[in-house]
Amino acid sequence: MSGAIYGGDEVGALVLDIGHNTVRAGYGGEDSPKLDIPSTIGVWTDSQDDIGEPQYKYNIGLTAIHVKRPGMELTTFLKEGMIENWDMFENLTDYIYRNALGAVSRDHPILVTEPPWITPPKREQMAELMFEKYKVPALYLGKNAALAAFANGRPTCLVVDSGATHTSAVPVHDGFVLTQAVVKSPVGGDYISMQCRNYLEEKNIDIIPPYMVASKELTKPDEPASWKRKSSLPKVTDSWHNYMVKEVMQDFQASVLQVSDNLYDEEVVKTMPAIHYEFPNGFHKDFGVERFKIPEPLFNPTTGVGPLVTTSVGMCDIDIRPAMYGSVVVTGGNSNIQGFNERLNRDLAAKTPPVCIISKIITYDSKSMTALQSMRLKVISATGAVERKFGAWIGGSILSSLGSFQQLWISKQEYDEGGKAIVQTKCP
Ligand SMILES: Nc1ncnc2c1ncn2[C@@H]1O[C@H](COP(=O)(O)OP(=O)(O)OP(=O)(O)O)[C@@H](O)[C@H]1O
Ligand SMILES: [Mg+2]
Repeated sequence: MSGAIYGGDEVGALVLDIGHNTVRAGYGGEDSPKLDIPSTIGVWTDSQDDIGEPQYKYNIGLTAIHVKRPGMELTTFLKEGMIENWDMFENLTDYIYRNALGAVSRDHPILVTEPPWITPPKREQMAELMFEKYKVPALYLGKNAALAAFANGRPTCLVVDSGATHTSAVPVHDGFVLTQAVVKSPVGGDYISMQCRNYLEEKNIDIIPPYMVASKELTKPDEPASWKRKSSLPKVTDSWHNYMVKEVMQDFQASVLQVSDNLYDEEVVKTMPAIHYEFPNGFHKDFGVERFKIPEPLFNPTTGVGPLVTTSVGMCDIDIRPAMYGSVVVTGGNSNIQGFNERLNRDLAAKTPPVCIISKIITYDSKSMTALQSMRLKVISATGAVERKFGAWIGGSILSSLGSFQQLWISKQEYDEGGKAIVQTKCP
């Protein structure tokens, strides 16, 4: 491979962005990933090996996990954004190469994303897997927040990533994540899905996923649904059913929820338009104040996105704080909830000046004061929902196809010479 332009036309690099909701994969230089498949995998067994241990089989991809197979559990290989079950991840990677992209791993350098809090052993294990098993010619491990910053054209910024399992505030300086100042909270899209489910259950609204519905008839709004259950449903596992319910909740939250402009005030949101929503079993009604009430924990005054940002910026060096507030880049699928950016902007505008004035007066010299005085708050994000969901992937796609990036890949030769610990130096 020596001398090849990895990311150029000759050898297209692959970009793999691993998230808890979905995994995105495709070719560097393209606008969007070819593939966006659930990180949730079906696991089942119908055979044992010689010593009686179950031999697991995996159903991978949106269609395969929807198969109603008795005993199939839906689970994930990830924990805190990091790979926990490597066997499952390998099966997913095989699926991506073979079935989904039709690519041969030894032909393509691969850029794999990782969360800002990735641990050194996990990175080394990824390098080992990619070079030893997949025989990739070159590898790069990129922090997802830094890639999202890059996709938004801001190598220095504060990335707010609201995904499925968490929302994080990640300072990025000249393309590098300042790991010591990363702050995260478990309030992301999955938490909001759970809040939706709790709310609907409290109101005795049945959440019937499409797989159970044989037929339905139109009823009046708020009236009990008139629907028939499929007669021959196999016995599915709780994890499988719960995933099907979560899919309904994800549609509900994307269609109905909106973040209030200011701190939730029932009197104000009562005056806002309601949204009509129909569930898979035909039950339909208007949703009013709950549209705003359910996502409000995202903007909790002490634990919400605003405090995440101010805490994170507060942990950065004083000199770069203005640059952080001057470029708050919003990314992640959950940030697509209507009103997210506007509320963040408002919460930060209300909070940032006093915080900085205090630090300026008490602690810092005249050089920093000048920097702070010229501070402006700017919340930036891609306009399209797809660009926000694919922020890190798009950043990886752009980066891996730049001529100037080609020297940054870890080549197979470098790996062979330096061992797996080379990822710590070559991919900061
Ligand atoms: N239009 C939308 N409106 C509201 N929420 C949405 C919308 N689109 C996606 N989401 C939510 O965004 C979340 C997925 O976001 P994203 O793809 O950034 O997560 P991920 O990167 O896979 O997960 P994580 O970052 O936790 O590892 C899901 O909870 C989904 O319900
Ligand atoms: Mg993510």
